[in-house]
Amino acid sequence: MDIRKIAVLGAGQMGNGIAQVCAQAGYEVKMRDIDQKFIDKGLATIKKNLERGLKKGRITQEEIDASLGRIKGVLDLKEAVEDADLVIEAIPEIVKLKLDTWKAVDEAAPEHAILASNTSSISITQMAAVTKRPEKFIGMHFFNPVPVMGLVEIIKGQATTDETVKVIERVSHKVGKKTVLVNEAPGFAVNRLLVPAINEAIFAIQEGVATVEDMDTAIHLGLNWPMGPLTLADFVGLDTLLYISDYFVEEFKDSKYRAPALLRKMVRAGWVGRKSGMGFYDYSGEKPVPNRF
Ligand code: 3HC
Repeated sequence: MDIRKIAVLGAGQMGNGIAQVCAQAGYEVKMRDIDQKFIDKGLATIKKNLERGLKKGRITQEEIDASLGRIKGVLDLKEAVEDADLVIEAIPEIVKLKLDTWKAVDEAAPEHAILASNTSSISITQMAAVTKRPEKFIGMHFFNPVPVMGLVEIIKGQATTDETVKVIERVSHKVGKKTVLVNEAPGFAVNRLLVPAINEAIFAIQEGVATVEDMDTAIHLGLNWPMGPLTLADFVGLDTLLYISDYFVEEFKDSKYRAPALLRKMVRAGWVGRKSGMGFYDYSGEKPVPNRF
């Protein structure tokens, strides 16, 4: 099956990154969101990220113009998916919202279209089951920042066929990513390890084992992580981490995945990391300043 047209649902942090790499790979992209202001912000981020490449001589102005020309911002869901060969969904991690969206997409998308979710934890099988094409439903998990990170985690739901997996492997390779194939399980492979690791760092902060900056330096230099775990927590979003931790406890029925009280308290305070200006670091000044706990 030949994929030419891709609909990306959601123009946020993940959605605009996915739209960018797809357009750069030559696909015709419709990027859909529910409000024009989200689409405008997503398009502005794509432009800014492409222009970074221009400054470093990795991309030409012609390539930027061609990539931007392949992305169309769309408000109407039906218009976004009606001629798509592949729909990639990157909307908020709210189960009801995902299920309602997939029902509507299934009605409006062509019969041959493959449906892929960029969910970080929600069951692929549960989403596939609300459509009439569970064999064409799959997980396609990108990592933030999408233009930089080299991996797509491909997740097979209960009914996903090998043919669907092959098509998604081809698309992922074409957008410049390596793939791993994971059978469905909460958190798949990456978040199953990442979320408990970040939570352990937060438990250590809560217990006064080290300061935020020392814990980050320890793991950045001691383990060669590009970012320390608390910087990474702020980068991913503390609300997302809390959501995944709670989901793990519910799905695994195992308290080892529980969220630290400090994480829950910070989310309740609206301290959800970089996007809110406050998290383990305070982002209100020129440089992030670590908070004391
Ligand atoms: N968008 C596009 N490009 C970006 C970018 C962004 N948001 N941020 C940085 N870059 C590019 C820079 O232009 C630069 O490109 P170059 O090497 O060609 O010059 C390159 O990335 C390196 O950037 P910097 O020199 O500014 O900074 P760093 O060396 O610190 O790298 C980083 C930044 C790539 C974000 C690096 O710190 C990193 O890899 N951090 C870890 C990120 C990570 O773990 N992501 C996964 C999160 S988990 C997830 O997404 C799953 C979800 O389900 C929770």
